[in-house]
Amino acid sequence: MTDQYAVIGNPIAQSKSPAIHAAFAEQTGQILHYGRIEAPADGFAAAATAFRRQGGRGMNVTAPFKLDAFAYATQLGERARLAGAVNCLRFDGDTVAADNFDGIGLLRDMQDNLGIPVRGRRVLLLGAGGAVQGALLPFLEAGPHALVVANRTAAKAAALAEAFGAGSVTGVGLDDLSAMDGFDLVLNATSASLFGELPAIPASAFAPGAVAYELAYGKGLTPFLLQARAAGVTRLHDGVGMLVEQAAEAFAWWRGVRPRTGAVIERMRVPL
Ligand code: ATR
Repeated sequence: MTDQYAVIGNPIAQSKSPAIHAAFAEQTGQILHYGRIEAPADGFAAAATAFRRQGGRGMNVTAPFKLDAFAYATQLGERARLAGAVNCLRFDGDTVAADNFDGIGLLRDMQDNLGIPVRGRRVLLLGAGGAVQGALLPFLEAGPHALVVANRTAAKAAALAEAFGAGSVTGVGLDDLSAMDGFDLVLNATSASLFGELPAIPASAFAPGAVAYELAYGKGLTPFLLQARAAGVTRLHDGVGMLVEQAAEAFAWWRGVRPRTGAVIERMRVPL
């Protein structure tokens, strides 16, 4: 039987993962089938188990199931453990191996595709949910000069920073940003853009020559990117490259073959 893979979420109709993995399979000559599964909000484990029984070899996991997948795993990779969330599963007999490629996908896109180095830079991550949690370790490994997490609810940012070790990450409230120097890289990892809302930050958060990166994909100029442009930022990016890069990590983990991403990113890109 053809090896089966799927992305699981709710809702899931909007997911680009089937198209991305089909492109990778074609490019690398791998024979597999990749579908989508919409599980009920309380039905992740049942859906995953049913998929395994039907020969499922692996899954990408998206909202709202990243914590359910964490609980379902029998073998957690270091990134998933530190992120507290899982975005990819691999099934092998009774073993459910889990990893999280969101953060590494983001870093690969920024550094390798967009040519934006993190080393020595002042980096601001907006938000303190799963997206930020997954990005912190890869960012720290890239050696920024400063790494600040700013969140609407300041206590959540402070707790996250503390969990990663005092001194390496600073956690603040959005209100605190007006008293801080500007940042070279400003990334919006809040869910505000999904609702067309703005994480309220001062224009001074963008240092001269800053880059603004919106982790959401395909939403055009979000309120965050519009705000960055109004503050004089000219390098504006959305998360299309991150999406394709995390998929490439998953594909390589499952199949042992690393696909090229450039052409797939261009195909998926929605102009800003
Ligand atoms: P995810 O797993 O996608 O990161 P999440 O865990 O629900 O999602 O976290 C959403 C993040 O977006 C939170 O940091 C949230 O801030 P709070 O902790 O204060 O709730 C942030 N967020 C959502 N809407 C926002 C808005 N309109 N302005 C600022 N931050 C917002």
